[in-house]
Amino acid sequence: LQSKKRYYWQVRVKDNHGNTSAWSEPGLFQMGIAPADWTAKWITVAGKDSSARSPLFRKEFSLQKKVKSAIAYITAKGLYEANINGQRVSDTYFAPGWTSYKDHLQYQVYDVTTALKSGANVLGVSLGNGWYKGRIGFGNQHNFYGDTRGLLMQVEVEYTDGTKQTKNTDESWKYTYGPIMASDIYDGEIYDARMEIAGWNNTGFKEDAAWISVGTMEKGTEKLVAMSGPPVRKHEQFKALKVFKTPAGETVVDFGQNLVGWVMLKAKGAAGTKIILSHAEVLTKEGNFYTVNLRSAKAQDTYILKENTEQVFEPHFTFQGFRYVKVEGYPGELKTEDLTAVAVYSDMETTGKFSTSNAMLNQLQHNIQWGQKGNFVDVPTDCPQRDERLGWTGDAEAFANSAAYNMDVAGFFTKWLKDVKTDQQPNGLIPHVIPNVLGPNDGASAGWADVSTIIPWDMYVAYGDRRILETQYESMQKWVGYISSVAKNNLWNSGFHFGDWLFYRPNDDNDGRAAVTDKYLIAQTFYAHSTQLLINAAKVLGKQDDVAKYTALLAEIKAAFVKEYMTPTGRLVSGTQTAYVLALNFDMLPEELRAPCAERLVANIRDYGNHLTTGFLGTPYLCHVLTRFGHNNVAYDLLMQESYPSWLYPVKMGATTIWERWDGIKPDGSFQTPDMNSYNHYAYGAIGDWMYRTIAGINSVADQPGYKSIVIAPKPG
Ligand code: BGC
Repeated sequence: LQSKKRYYWQVRVKDNHGNTSAWSEPGLFQMGIAPADWTAKWITVAGKDSSARSPLFRKEFSLQKKVKSAIAYITAKGLYEANINGQRVSDTYFAPGWTSYKDHLQYQVYDVTTALKSGANVLGVSLGNGWYKGRIGFGNQHNFYGDTRGLLMQVEVEYTDGTKQTKNTDESWKYTYGPIMASDIYDGEIYDARMEIAGWNNTGFKEDAAWISVGTMEKGTEKLVAMSGPPVRKHEQFKALKVFKTPAGETVVDFGQNLVGWVMLKAKGAAGTKIILSHAEVLTKEGNFYTVNLRSAKAQDTYILKENTEQVFEPHFTFQGFRYVKVEGYPGELKTEDLTAVAVYSDMETTGKFSTSNAMLNQLQHNIQWGQKGNFVDVPTDCPQRDERLGWTGDAEAFANSAAYNMDVAGFFTKWLKDVKTDQQPNGLIPHVIPNVLGPNDGASAGWADVSTIIPWDMYVAYGDRRILETQYESMQKWVGYISSVAKNNLWNSGFHFGDWLFYRPNDDNDGRAAVTDKYLIAQTFYAHSTQLLINAAKVLGKQDDVAKYTALLAEIKAAFVKEYMTPTGRLVSGTQTAYVLALNFDMLPEELRAPCAERLVANIRDYGNHLTTGFLGTPYLCHVLTRFGHNNVAYDLLMQESYPSWLYPVKMGATTIWERWDGIKPDGSFQTPDMNSYNHYAYGAIGDWMYRTIAGINSVADQPGYKSIVIAPKPG
């Protein structure tokens, strides 16, 4: 297959009776561009890139003959929005996407045949800071990947007579600053319509004589790679349900759904009128607008009007997580029809639907789906609203299976796993967040770092594509190698671990009800789990030596667990649900002690009045373990539980997405600690996997991944 070429294919099918079908309609795919074929130069602003404003880059050129086809290859350091003759080249957002930029940067390939014409044409591109240069991670961190935004664009035109012409970014381009005065993912965008430059990205614009000549940038050391995940697009639109005044006297709009994206705003008023939209997920119990849980994220879009005609605004290089919007400075009376909320997320096909006769359960499924939509914006994030929005590995591994039931996430995770592999340290350590914007050694937490074995295996089982195992195998092996290198006597009992994050712990815990699970007990179970998944992968890939080697290791890991964490009668050193769940789910215990341990788990659940007490690590496996050991009724008791802590408690409290904490809003209406209280965090949505697998009973047969054989065996409660 050759760089830049377009390939057409057709398929026909022969069956075992000798019949042959007709050829299908032709399909096609377009190749990416090989490194040596890039002739464009990186361009940027002249001098230091220190302005908060978005630069507009422009180039007018002429095509002499009739265009047969034209392809644009584009990437940027920062985010780009590219236009040809005044039209966006695509309906996608946040290109080039977020990857481990220091290692590899994606480019996009667009068919722009119909956008170009014989005669004069204009390429016009604006850049935003995005993940590359904007604020990302903790501690007001800017310029993590670099301090200079840059653009690389190559447009290759083929004429009907077979001759070719290329238009590249180079020194001849010009730039100036446009109406985007500042733009940042956490903080939002400031757009001053008075600074718009009419016609700048179209032909016949003469004022660029006064624009500045661009600077050029050296080619970086990062690899340019073809985009591999789905692009981010606009999806559902929500009309404002109501505009109202809060008790504090603020004007607030309710869209009825916690979503991720932005608000399209219509306004008409005097030039210079400044309208500020602030975003929030919840109102206080008094009904006031609440943003404390966004921490330092400003999450604010500001629009400054240019003249007294109706204008429609939307931001370009930012997204917010919100259900409510506070509007300040709106000229005239704000009406519901002036605002539309637009959900923006990676373009994944819906592959699963789940509904029952129970309205609360259906709302739970709805919340799981919206947790997925809002946190699958190019990378799987913990949350989409506060000053975080990072690719937290533990959250992603907890939710991956549920995600794969709801939507086609094969491409989405394939792309992200490349970054897992890239950001893995030479000693095998997997960082807490991917792409890693924390320190290089912030990682190796049990249940988080194990994402490197868990998601490749989950994706293989869901989609049956063994390439994901081939690609990730080395990384999986290095991760298990890392644990072995720090383990002593086969026990992983050192290092920092988040543990069973956000497990149940009452405030005034005189009775010792807090469900604290020993972190090293947890680590040992994940050591076993990762090793088991590595064995599974080695079997699929035919690596017999590795199968033997890691099978022997696994036996030692389990023996060490039993010796260290279990009494002879099968009691674990932590008597928590999570301890029993992990030990049972990962087959840590001698066969004869498993059923009695499951009984202990059930007794524990009953003791808490049919409530779960699990955090991020125990929750995904809790109901699976109950069902597997013959306690499906107990799993249903947990699922249908409406009081805290439970899955339906937030539903009862009016949640429209999955919350970070079981009690993000407490029964008395007050909030959990604002330092960490997101209302859109998919991790606890991991129950979705059990709902599909057990209630609906849809499973892929174990050794036939990708649903080549399907079992449908609902287990109703
Ligand atoms: C994130 C979590 C993450 C955790 C690590 C939090 O700030 O929001 O979801 O997994 O840190 O424990």
